[in-house]
Amino acid sequence: MPKLYLLAMSMNESLSLADQNNPHRPTSGAEDSASKGETSDVNAYELRLVTQSETSNTGAHRITITSGKGGVGKSSISSNLALSLSKLGAKVLLFDADLQLANLDLLLGIQPEFTLFDVIKHGKHLRDIMCDAPLGLKVICGGSGVSQLMNAGPKKLNVFYDQLNDLEGEFDYFIFDTGAGVDNRMVSFCAHTDETIIVTTPDPSSITDSYAVIKITGVKASQVPVSVIFNGVVGPNEAIALYRILNDTTTKFLNRPIAFLGAVRHDDTMRASVRARRPVVTTFPQAPSAIDIDAIGLEIYHRMVSKAA
Ligand SMILES: Nc1ncnc2c1ncn2[C@@H]1O[C@H](COP(=O)(O)OP(=O)(O)OP(=O)(O)O)[C@@H](O)[C@H]1O
Ligand SMILES: [Mg+2]
Repeated sequence: MPKLYLLAMSMNESLSLADQNNPHRPTSGAEDSASKGETSDVNAYELRLVTQSETSNTGAHRITITSGKGGVGKSSISSNLALSLSKLGAKVLLFDADLQLANLDLLLGIQPEFTLFDVIKHGKHLRDIMCDAPLGLKVICGGSGVSQLMNAGPKKLNVFYDQLNDLEGEFDYFIFDTGAGVDNRMVSFCAHTDETIIVTTPDPSSITDSYAVIKITGVKASQVPVSVIFNGVVGPNEAIALYRILNDTTTKFLNRPIAFLGAVRHDDTMRASVRARRPVVTTFPQAPSAIDIDAIGLEIYHRMVSKAA
């Protein structure tokens, strides 16, 4: 009980830290200029995304995977989840959208000839830079192109989003593996995809940072559903207990319930598979983490099938 109370206390602190009117709230320069009424790249970017979300409801389901705290397993889960969905027969485009450390190629053991940098700087089409990964999975590697894209002017961003729309009919899912934290550009990105998945570990600081992300994405676009994956847990009971605390807190303070998507057990095989550059769900499908990620993939896939029925 005292432990739960402490967690709730620190969540309240996150609440005030993340509050829109709080002068200490983390902001980006782009947000500052937006609040002064200047036309920023991010404004144009958001406008464009809003227009798209009105017109592209029938295409690939766009999932953003993010977290408050770094190193919680986003890229491990994104890459393995994309492969789980591919195993089920879904057509998946996995997108390395980490502003700081784009490393999906390492996790998947692929060597990209081109990255997003070639789209931004050399006028290539996204279709030309897609890499082949196992099971028919396609991957767009970010390289330094992610930050270049996020800082690009509206013209380049529009070209990029047009190209993404070109690919939409060919895929069931776009999965965006983002960096950690509350970067305003990434929050805008989450806000305009179809679903945000937050990855957290049982570590209280990871959970309170997740709360901050849920709050900030809620301010930008409360209509985007948020679900949570607990990674590195002992088992489902631990995850469900933590989920209840987090969901009670987001519901009470933000009026924003979140869904429980699943739990991935702490598993040394996952760590070893990352080091070996061989994804756990394809290389060690009987490992606890692979079984758990496959279960999450099945849940997401079922949702798509039942929606289409
Ligand atoms: N379920 C797990 N069990 C054991 N180790 C794990 C598990 N999930 C991830 N890891 C390990 O945690 C480390 C960080 O994982 P990963 O790079 O996926 O995190 P991340 O959230 O993408 O990090 P970043 O914020 O830097 O992008 C890796 O060494 C990975 O092997
Ligand atoms: Mg990562």
